[in-house]
Amino acid sequence: MPSYAAFIGHQPHLSLAELAATVPGFLLHEKINHSVVLFDSGVPLDAKFMDTLGGTIVLAEKLEDAKARTEDIPEILGKLLMPIKGKVTFSLRTLGFAPGTVRDFYRKSKLHLKKKGKPSRYVGNERVAAPSIVLRDNGLLDRSHGCELCVIQHAAEASTSPLLWIGITVGAQDVDAYTKRDMEKPVRDTSVGLLPPKLAQILVNFGVWLAKKNQSPGPMVILDPFCGTGVIPMECLMRGFTALASDKSEKAITGTTKNLEWLRKQFEISKTKAPSRVWKQDATKPFDAKAHPELAKGVDAIVTETTLGPALTKRPTMKEVNTLRSDNEALQIGFLESAAASLPGVPIVCIWPVWYPSKAPVALEKVWKAAEKLGYQAVLPPTIEIVDGRMSLLYRRPDQFVGREVVIFKAKK
Ligand SMILES: C[S@@+](CC[C@H](N)C(=O)[O-])C[C@H]1O[C@@H](n2cnc3c(N)ncnc32)[C@H](O)[C@@H]1O
Repeated sequence: MPSYAAFIGHQPHLSLAELAATVPGFLLHEKINHSVVLFDSGVPLDAKFMDTLGGTIVLAEKLEDAKARTEDIPEILGKLLMPIKGKVTFSLRTLGFAPGTVRDFYRKSKLHLKKKGKPSRYVGNERVAAPSIVLRDNGLLDRSHGCELCVIQHAAEASTSPLLWIGITVGAQDVDAYTKRDMEKPVRDTSVGLLPPKLAQILVNFGVWLAKKNQSPGPMVILDPFCGTGVIPMECLMRGFTALASDKSEKAITGTTKNLEWLRKQFEISKTKAPSRVWKQDATKPFDAKAHPELAKGVDAIVTETTLGPALTKRPTMKEVNTLRSDNEALQIGFLESAAASLPGVPIVCIWPVWYPSKAPVALEKVWKAAEKLGYQAVLPPTIEIVDGRMSLLYRRPDQFVGREVVIFKAKK
């Protein structure tokens, strides 16, 4: 089984859950410093797979023939780089070494290549690894002009001898493509909060897992009934999935429509390859397959960031939170009732609000019982542990007064 190291994002539990949901035969070995996950996969993983992940920044594959000694780094790099024609570029991504040691790895590797008659240069340095854009632009990911070696040293406990993991980087997030989708789309609405495209990708991946489509991959049909400016439908089109989107606000419908049209042009996604439909609808009212024939063809999963209530610019009082919470519970229950009645059996990945007053965080409560009564069962991807007794995953930036609780529901037919 091939082994991998994933350098994960700033919400490590979500990144890990995404890997557990998407990697066939995922087997977790180690979590290191909340920043790297070592795991086995049942199938080889490549840069294309990496592009579908929202929570992994860099993915490296373990080198089978790597002798587990740091002295061998120059030779290992040499073997990888010698077959490439002309001057090569290399890079090191390390964890668990002092900067002076990493500087030595770079220096000795360059010297080794010189002795072998191979002209080279390197990107990145002893303090920071090369940014993903540099890896892409210099042909280090497709290995046309060089490669990046990933060297991780880690002791599970102070008393145990450190483990050395050596691999080659096979994929890195396309930061430019994310920024373009996030910042350059024609309609952005800060008043409803901005869902980061990477989080949207993670949600879509949970939808794929729920619909069991990661076992037999193929196009999916995903519905976002609180589409806002359409970040989730956009990520569906990027995957070649059918995106169905609705919202009760006219402004959201126009916004999503414009953003999807823009995305199609920018990323050359045809309507035949990835169809989409946007319509106005209150999500607490039944989803009518007569009015929207796309629904009748079958929805594989509902993936949505439901309404989080008003964006808060200052810490809310308990009184404010209580009102916000009871309004929101009523809306969430209304939506689940409508989904259970008109889209029975369709699994749901949704985001609920969590408020941060001065005391402990306040999350939704009543909706859990209501969901269970309606036949929804909350689940987490394999190996993911329950935190604070909640069957969910939290996403929160430290400066936010409203966080996001990701809930994944299987549905009874
Ligand atoms: C947090 S925003 C979603 C943002 C979205 N993820 C995006 O990409 O922009 C919540 C959306 O829910 C919509 N909404 C609120 N109540 C609704 C309801 N009862 N039915 C449908 N949409 C509703 C709002 O109009 C708003 O666009």
